[in-house]
Amino acid sequence: MPHVISTVPRLIAVPILLLTCTVFFLPRSHEVPQIFNHIHIHGKNVTETSSTFNPSVQAFWQELASALLAAQPQCNPLQLVEGSIGSWADWQPLKPGKKHADRLLGFTDDDETALFRAHYAMRRSAQHLAPKLPFSKGTTGIVTTANAKYMPIFLVSLRMLRRTGCNLPVEVFIDDWSKYEPTICDTVLPSLNAHCVVLSNVYNTAKYVKEPDHYQYKIFAMLFSSFQHVLFLDSDAFPAYDPKILFATAPYTTHGLVTWPDYWAPTISAHFYHIAAIPEEPSQARYSTESGQLLINKDTQRESLLMMVYYNYYGPDYYYLLLSQGSHGAGDKETFVQAAMAVGLPYYQVSTGPRALGRHVNGTFRGLGIAQADPGIDYEYLIPMRSHIHPAEVWQDIDLAHTDPVVEKALNRTRKAPKKPRPVFLHQNMLKLDPRKVLDDKTQPTFEVDGTPHRMWGSKEEMVDLLGYDVERRLWDVIAEEGCREDQESSTCGEIRAYVREVFGWMDSIDRPW
Ligand SMILES: *[C@@H]1O[C@H](CO)[C@@H](O)[C@H](O)[C@H]1NC(C)=O
Ligand SMILES: *[C@@H]1O[C@H](CO)[C@@H](O)[C@H](O)[C@H]1NC(C)=O
Ligand SMILES: *[C@@H]1O[C@H](CO)[C@@H](O)[C@H](O)[C@H]1NC(C)=O
Repeated sequence: MPHVISTVPRLIAVPILLLTCTVFFLPRSHEVPQIFNHIHIHGKNVTETSSTFNPSVQAFWQELASALLAAQPQCNPLQLVEGSIGSWADWQPLKPGKKHADRLLGFTDDDETALFRAHYAMRRSAQHLAPKLPFSKGTTGIVTTANAKYMPIFLVSLRMLRRTGCNLPVEVFIDDWSKYEPTICDTVLPSLNAHCVVLSNVYNTAKYVKEPDHYQYKIFAMLFSSFQHVLFLDSDAFPAYDPKILFATAPYTTHGLVTWPDYWAPTISAHFYHIAAIPEEPSQARYSTESGQLLINKDTQRESLLMMVYYNYYGPDYYYLLLSQGSHGAGDKETFVQAAMAVGLPYYQVSTGPRALGRHVNGTFRGLGIAQADPGIDYEYLIPMRSHIHPAEVWQDIDLAHTDPVVEKALNRTRKAPKKPRPVFLHQNMLKLDPRKVLDDKTQPTFEVDGTPHRMWGSKEEMVDLLGYDVERRLWDVIAEEGCREDQESSTCGEIRAYVREVFGWMDSIDRPW
């Protein structure tokens, strides 16, 4: 007993001593000891710093906002006719003369003229505003948008990005301060060289502009990003290898705007071309755009960027409907290439078709994501446009042969067509990789019909053949890392680790890219 009693004062004395010392040595200006505060750096929080736009950016936005309002189309919002679209959204390169989609309801010449004049007004404003477009010259970085729902998914994507060895800075645009999460924005993201940027800090400095909606955040994130060279990635898209090289090679260096294809044909109204006062692009000239990833050089594509802002600002009422009339989703995806076209600037859309990531479950293919080709390889490969003399979509060995079979035989050689361009971006758009939820649905391809855990993208051999390493193995490692970040004892962490153990096994658990 006496022993215990004598311990108690000592137990109290130690904290008192520590507290006294801490208070004594503490600089007066700080309310809390610095060591307890990961958030404040030089008295400012990280998000506040990265969301402070200098007056020249604000002034530019105010001018751009006035230009947008001055170029408001003076006609009623457009509408599409109801009903089935049939099969016309399938891409049919062997039918080059196919007519453009035409589903505008009650669209009159007066409407078209109103849109035409407003477009011309914006086109002129874009010319005038282009030289003032703000960005930090020579900088390169990655831009994305995320809200509370997508942040856990983005953290998985961001960790996948970092695993490729890519150290480019990342700007994560969030709508406003209500979406701000101090731990994520000021601790977790900065530890991965990423920062939250609060869009409303700059957006709200212009008067009379509408609040952005769902699809519009993407273009505003690109517009207000500080980088000159931008890789935009959806929160659920990530590269399989370091994307830095893409900025240093064609087609980025030659075109300054690189987009990727969707599975479908574009469904652009012919009226769009009349409104933009440019020649009609054939309806089957290329696939429609899938905007999970995009590369843009803000220096060389200034006017395109401003027209993209215009098409998105007036997207929900006008341009989303003019540019994307299919059942495969309206939205921003068709605004990027068209903007470059409208101002006569170059763009490069990857022509290797998208590849579905998924697997067969009980006899049916279940797609979970989209794999998109390396634009550099795609550019060199120069994929053949399908036609009556070459219906295949890739180069064949026979394409390298002499036209005369006799000569070819005499030459006695074997020539192999190059390999189809490999993917670089993986856009997991169907099953969202939020660690807390990804394993909840047992009917997903992550499980067999009897509930046994299973790989979701196909075999290890297929992954290695496609990308050079087992990217799915790495992905689940990252999901576990993120799912266990807050609490190693959580059920989320336990479930993911059990899944990984079951599917990939112990011996296979070291993630190496060879
Ligand atoms: C960071 O700054 C913003 C804006 O001033 C503020 O709303 C937020 O609460 C700050 N965060 C912390 C953790 O102090
Ligand atoms: C698997 O497919 C067969 C045939 O299509 C079907 O009858 C069966 O119900 C399916 N099983 C499950 C578990 O979905
Ligand atoms: C064709 O070339 C191979 C190796 O280059 C050689 O072995 C073969 O004899 C040649 N055939 C003819 C018919 O010249």
